[in-house]
Amino acid sequence: MAINTDKGSAIYSPLVLKLYDTWVLGISNRFAWKCSTHEVLLPFFRRNVGLRHLDVGVGTGFYPCHAGLSQQTQITFMDLNPSSLKAASIRFGRGSTKTILHDVMTPLPAQEGGGYDSISLFYLLHCLPGNISDKGIVLSNLKSHLLPNGRLFGATILGDSANHNAFGKKLMTIYNRKGIFGNHCDTAEGLKAELEKHFASVNIRVEGKVALFEASNS
Ligand SMILES: C[S@@+](CC[C@H](N)C(=O)[O-])C[C@H]1O[C@@H](n2cnc3c(N)ncnc32)[C@H](O)[C@@H]1O
Repeated sequence: MAINTDKGSAIYSPLVLKLYDTWVLGISNRFAWKCSTHEVLLPFFRRNVGLRHLDVGVGTGFYPCHAGLSQQTQITFMDLNPSSLKAASIRFGRGSTKTILHDVMTPLPAQEGGGYDSISLFYLLHCLPGNISDKGIVLSNLKSHLLPNGRLFGATILGDSANHNAFGKKLMTIYNRKGIFGNHCDTAEGLKAELEKHFASVNIRVEGKVALFEASNS
């Protein structure tokens, strides 16, 4: 039976997207997930983003929009939710930005893919249903769209074994119950093992309750 991926994206209505940066990138990252948006996540995005870049699970487009990207950088946005794609492309403000409405759990149509220097998955994997090996399908769907020396990178909120504080536990319970998150069992070790099935070089570090990962085949 196909996995239902709608719940992890349906919540991102235009209204929720208006509140997203304050609630998730401001309050939750600071007080629940203990991983600073400006001191950790944004520098990590800047360090890894390449000239032809695919951002998957775009939300409000915060990272590409705040990374200070050169005019040469070509961004493609991919998301299952049209409101996220619209919000991110309007904010990015470059008319030529390509958007792909697509579920990352299913293979990308051949005509949409190919030739990226980098692919980012920020706060996407914890929104997907299933255990970490079910989510490995995402890596298999995306890796063939990287150039030989391209890299995939991202960040994801870890599951119950990350020892969340009271605020984090509350959010984890509510979000997992509603299907907004599907990360109760996600661990950094499990994610590393999945990445290593697809990439020769894998780096993971944990900051607060968030795993930051970089993977390539070069
Ligand atoms: C938590 S937001 C992350 C936004 C942004 N990357 C950030 O870190 O601020 C998750 C995004 O992933 C999208 N998403 C969730 N499930 C998806 C799926 N199966 N395929 C593609 N996008 C998905 C949601 O619509 C939403 O835009």
